[in-house]
Amino acid sequence: QFKELVFSGMQPTGNLHLGNYLGAMIRWIELQKTMECIYCVVDMHAITVWQDPADLKRQIREVTAAYLAAGLDPKKSIIFNQSQVQQHAELAWVFNCVARIGWMNRMTQFKEKAGKDRENASLGLYAYPSLMAADILAYRATHVPVGEDQKQHVELTRDIAQKFNNDYAASIAANGYGDAFFPLTEPMIQGPATRVMSLRDGSKKMSKSDPSDYSRINLTDDADTIAQKVRKAKTDPEPLPSEVDGLKGRPEAENLVSIYAALTGTTAEDVLREHGGSQFSGFKAALVDVAVTKLAPIAGEMRRLMADPGHIDAILVDGSDRARVIAAQTMDAVRDIVGF
Ligand code: ADP
Ligand code: NA
Repeated sequence: QFKELVFSGMQPTGNLHLGNYLGAMIRWIELQKTMECIYCVVDMHAITVWQDPADLKRQIREVTAAYLAAGLDPKKSIIFNQSQVQQHAELAWVFNCVARIGWMNRMTQFKEKAGKDRENASLGLYAYPSLMAADILAYRATHVPVGEDQKQHVELTRDIAQKFNNDYAASIAANGYGDAFFPLTEPMIQGPATRVMSLRDGSKKMSKSDPSDYSRINLTDDADTIAQKVRKAKTDPEPLPSEVDGLKGRPEAENLVSIYAALTGTTAEDVLREHGGSQFSGFKAALVDVAVTKLAPIAGEMRRLMADPGHIDAILVDGSDRARVIAAQTMDAVRDIVGF
C-alpha cells in the first residue's frame, strides 16, 4: 500500500565519527542505488542542547559535506536540512498530542543525554522522539537505516503511526486515505558494525560526546591521526581467534574485527579466516591500511567541499525545495484528517 521510501538523518553537533559512518552512512550510499532516499541534516534536533549559532551553521555545512564526500549523490537522493522544511515542526506538534508521556518516559537516550539533572533538560530533548517520528512520517517513509542505538526511537515512530491511524481511523477513511494514513516504518539495522564501540573502552559506544579524543575516529581525521588512534586502541593480550565464537567476552577484539569487516564490506567470519591467530600489532597494521584507504579520501573531499560553502548551501536549498513538496502533501492531508 505504501511506496517504499528511505529516510534517515544525522545531527550537526560535534564531529561525525566512524560509528556514524559504519552504523548508518555506509548503508545510505548502498540504498540510494536501488531505492528512493531522503537524507536529512537534523538541525532542529541539534538545538535540544545548546548550540552556538555560528558553530551550528558551520556544522550543518560540515555534515552535508560529509554526506557528499562519503558518496551521497544529490541527483539520486534528496539531501537537505530539517529546519528549512517547516512541516517537520508542524507534524511534530500533532505527534506530541498523539504520543503519551509514558512512552517518552521509557526512552533510554533521553535518560543518557539528560544525565542526573533531568529537571533541567530542555523540553525539546524530552520530545525529541516525537520530532524524529515527524521527520520520518512527513515523507511516509517505509525504511529507516540507523545504528542500533536508534532502534527504540524507530519503534516509537511505529507506535505513533499506529495510534494516529487508530485515533483518526474514521476521518482517514472519510478523507479517502483508506484504513491507514501512515506506514509502520521498519528500522534497517544491518551490517557488521551496527554498534561501534569506543576504541578506549569496549563497554561504551563510540560517541561524539566522549571526552577522550582517542575513543573515536572522526571523519575529518587525516591518515596519521587515524593510524595513531588505531595503534592506541585498547586490546587484550591474546591473539585473534579463528572463529567468531572466540570473540565472546572480548569486546575490544570484537569491535576491531567488526570495524575491519564493515570497512572492507566483508563479515567477521571472513576477517577471522584471514587474520585468526594474528597478534594485535599485525592486525592493527592491516586495520590502519583499510581505515586510511577508506576514510582519508573522505576527509580530503570534505576539506575541498568546505572551501566552497556556497556550493553546499545550494545543494541544501535544492534538497529542501524537493523535500518540502512531499512534506507539504502529507501535512495538507494531516490537517484535513485532524480537522484543522
Ligand atoms: P550521535 O549518536 O553520535 O549523537 P546521531 O544521533 O546524529 O549521532 O546519530 C546518527 C546516526 O549514527 C544514527 O543512525 C545512529 O544510530 C548512528 N550511530 C551513532 N553512533 C553510533 C555507533 N557508535 N555505532 C553505530 N551507529 C552509530
Ligand atoms: Na544516536
